[in-house]
Amino acid sequence: MPSHTIVSKEQWLEARKAHLAREKEFTRLRDQLSAERRAMPWVKVDKTYVFEGPKGKVTLADLFDGRRQLIVYHFMFGPGWEQGCPSCSFLSDHIDGAVVHLAHRDVTLVAVSRAPLRQIDAFKKRMGWRFTWVSSSGTDFNVDFHVSFTKEQMAKGAVDYNFARREFPSEEAPGLSVFYKDEHGDVFHTYSTYARRGRPAVHDGVGASPRSVRRGRVTAEPPPQNIYDDPAFFAGYSRLERFGPGWTRALEHPSFMALLPDVAGRRVLDLGCGVGQLAHHLAERGAAEVIGVDISERMIALASAERSHPRLRYLRMAIEQAAFGPRRFDLVVSSLAIHYVADYHGLVQRIACWLSPGGILVYSTEHPVYLTRACAEGWIRDAAGQPLHWPVNAYADEGLREEHWFTDGVQKYHRTLSSLLNGLIDAGLAIERVVEPVPDEQQIARHPEWIHERRRPFCLVVRARKQVKSP
Ligand SMILES: C[S@@+](CC[C@H](N)C(=O)[O-])C[C@H]1O[C@@H](n2cnc3c(N)ncnc32)[C@H](O)[C@@H]1O
Repeated sequence: MPSHTIVSKEQWLEARKAHLAREKEFTRLRDQLSAERRAMPWVKVDKTYVFEGPKGKVTLADLFDGRRQLIVYHFMFGPGWEQGCPSCSFLSDHIDGAVVHLAHRDVTLVAVSRAPLRQIDAFKKRMGWRFTWVSSSGTDFNVDFHVSFTKEQMAKGAVDYNFARREFPSEEAPGLSVFYKDEHGDVFHTYSTYARRGRPAVHDGVGASPRSVRRGRVTAEPPPQNIYDDPAFFAGYSRLERFGPGWTRALEHPSFMALLPDVAGRRVLDLGCGVGQLAHHLAERGAAEVIGVDISERMIALASAERSHPRLRYLRMAIEQAAFGPRRFDLVVSSLAIHYVADYHGLVQRIACWLSPGGILVYSTEHPVYLTRACAEGWIRDAAGQPLHWPVNAYADEGLREEHWFTDGVQKYHRTLSSLLNGLIDAGLAIERVVEPVPDEQQIARHPEWIHERRRPFCLVVRARKQVKSP
């Protein structure tokens, strides 16, 4: 007989629900840990490592194979070994199916071992694997990344593994290192993990859920939606006044502009830049450099065609995929785009890392009260169609909201006010100003229907500054 307690279905359900609460707690903690991992600083790789691969000599930069992220699995396979480590082999049995999906997430995964290439090739053939596996024989790579130990190190009895001095039974050790290559071709070491964490990290990222790998780290987010490239959506959105030169007449425009610092000589990033009005304006106001990032091909195409500037560059990519070096920008702006991003906390942690000390973040986002409306249209109206009140529902339940806006299924993410503000504080940013814009008399004279915009907030504009002493 099993030694477990046998209970009724009802009691089992109760126990299962209690355990589910603990599982959810664990998931939230893991999400938080992932956000912290993504916000870690990077180190530039100054050494040139040259590996022996199936097509000859390749550098670490070559291994990216045209992608921006590289995961190196440090496979335990030393010179003269008859076969590779069994645990690494178990893991590697899952790699071939996953590399395709990782490639779609802008990630290349390779294995690296100190064994000579002919030894690697023979074992790879025996195992029937196809993924790229190169030899680091004759390089410092394995020693520098603490996965191979010299005889002298072993003789001393303790080696430097998993960020501590410890005894280790083998000259080779397992691990996983992550690298990023920027637009100039510079390579950065962003993350390494060893021992028990190394294998689950590969499984989380490779075996279990390939779409969850972003910037080479493991996350648990859905892929971002690109609704602005949907023809029906775009047809509607492009008729809005804010789409063209009328962007200065948008309701929140004066509030947003009032929070911007003097941009002369500053390096600026605009997240969700749309057709580039703000990015172009900042370049014209003397910013040293402006980078506008947007997921939409249509928006970026229009921005490039209509709002180019010698100091302004547009990058077509999701905010979720954007990656820059630490202290890369003095000002990060984002106008009405952050509510499209699922992982707000992760994003502000990354922004904090990209900001120079004293650097400023100014963003606008749809207001939580606006976003978590109880019914699709928003206003509850009287028989004559006049707005009576604005119903808010499920305020505390953060996450995805789908709405009809020009088309069905437009995805936005609701966060409570405290989450939005505490996210900034947690990222080491000091909140300097919070504005809930409402129309003034002039705006109402221009748009009489905006009188109702005074009855509930539509958006939130925040200015926060990175502490001078932040890491
Ligand atoms: C409401 S528009 C705002 C555009 C511009 N910032 C403005 O204020 O006029 C939102 C923009 O965010 C972009 N966007 C939405 N989700 C995105 C994502 N995940 N990554 C990058 N851009 C995104 C859209 O393509 C669109 O251009």
